[in-house]
Amino acid sequence: MRMVDIIAKKRDGGKLSREEIEFFIKGYTEGSIPDYQASALLMAICLKGMDMEEATHLTMAMVASGDQIDLSAIEGIKVDKHSTGGVGDKTTLVLGPIVAACGVKVAKMSGRGLGHTGGTIDKLESIPGFNTQLTREEFIRAVKETGIAVAGQTGNLVPADKKLYALRDVTGTVRSLALISSSIMSKKLAAGSDVIVLDVKTGSGAFMKTVEEARELAEAMVSIGTRAGKKVAAVITDMDRPLGYAVGNALEVREAIDVLKGKGPEDVREVCLTLAAKMLELAGKGSFGHCRELAAQAIASGAALRKLEQMIRAQGGLADVVRDPALLPKAAHVKAYRAKRGGYITGIQSERLGIAAMMLGAGRATKESTIDPAAGIVLLKKPGDSVKEGDALMELHANDETLFESALAELDIAVAIGDNVPEPAPLVIDFV
Ligand code: URA
Repeated sequence: MRMVDIIAKKRDGGKLSREEIEFFIKGYTEGSIPDYQASALLMAICLKGMDMEEATHLTMAMVASGDQIDLSAIEGIKVDKHSTGGVGDKTTLVLGPIVAACGVKVAKMSGRGLGHTGGTIDKLESIPGFNTQLTREEFIRAVKETGIAVAGQTGNLVPADKKLYALRDVTGTVRSLALISSSIMSKKLAAGSDVIVLDVKTGSGAFMKTVEEARELAEAMVSIGTRAGKKVAAVITDMDRPLGYAVGNALEVREAIDVLKGKGPEDVREVCLTLAAKMLELAGKGSFGHCRELAAQAIASGAALRKLEQMIRAQGGLADVVRDPALLPKAAHVKAYRAKRGGYITGIQSERLGIAAMMLGAGRATKESTIDPAAGIVLLKKPGDSVKEGDALMELHANDETLFESALAELDIAVAIGDNVPEPAPLVIDFV
């Protein structure tokens, strides 16, 4: 088999066989296929597409490129969840404990934030002492004993994706349905859970800007996962506006704790109950309606909050933060962002808000940047609220006062104030 023939076949719109796809992934991961040939094939895939059979072969070849986690030592059905990335998205911190409190095991590998989107691992590490770097054995033991563990990736999971993603990033080949869905699903499949619920975000702060694009991605990922023998569902949720009020690591942990206490923002609660109910439904706990009830009860009874406390303790963190969130890191400086005019807030662009929070130290501009766990932004008003000129719209939290200026300028672009109340957008848009 020759790589040049595979490239030419896809260039002409042909369908690649399983053998051809495996030849490419194996050769590229091992280094026998050079970057220039891989780039040419990636571009051909971007332009000509792949059908679901090809995308599934691609996903499975990527899974086979590295380690796969065997969770069979943990009894019962194991569930995982993935979000395509958002601003202020603290859902894992809320729904993980809810699902575990309902008796379903949560074995979740999460990532760090990059650019304007946050990552669950950074959020958890804002809890003093919390260890996200568990060995495979520690991870499995924690899930067995506590019913939940959330850790950074262990071992050599999907090395093909690491190499391919870096190449796609610099060759204009990220935007391809087949390449995005195989990249995400290969990592989820290698992580070993039986049930995968995908939270596909859409809107200004998301990767998929329109509902149609989000639906296509959701359908592709569900199809790949189902072909691979897993129970998979997707929920399309809005990321046109930030989720909740807090953006930034410790600030989001605090908000997640609030939601588990039965308080906190209604939008976070709603998205978390919906995703948790889907996870419980696929794990065999009954109808979606019944599972939503179970999830709501887990909050009302305090069981989910206790589960978060257990998880923090099991992973070496200061569990007292659950009772007293003031123990979380706090920024030395807080500054208000004020309304430039009166009217109604017609929009807050999540991507811009995420960038402003990153500028304050809450996120990474590059993979090497360090994070300030205390930094971030707390919204005081949301789209639809009426405001007067000079009203405080947000609180900016930073340890370095010199960072405020650029973040405030970014917020001038993020916030839109108009004369009319905007139409409320649905939060949970569709199920796939
Ligand atoms: N996230 C991923 O993990 N892979 C992609 O290709 C895009 C987003």
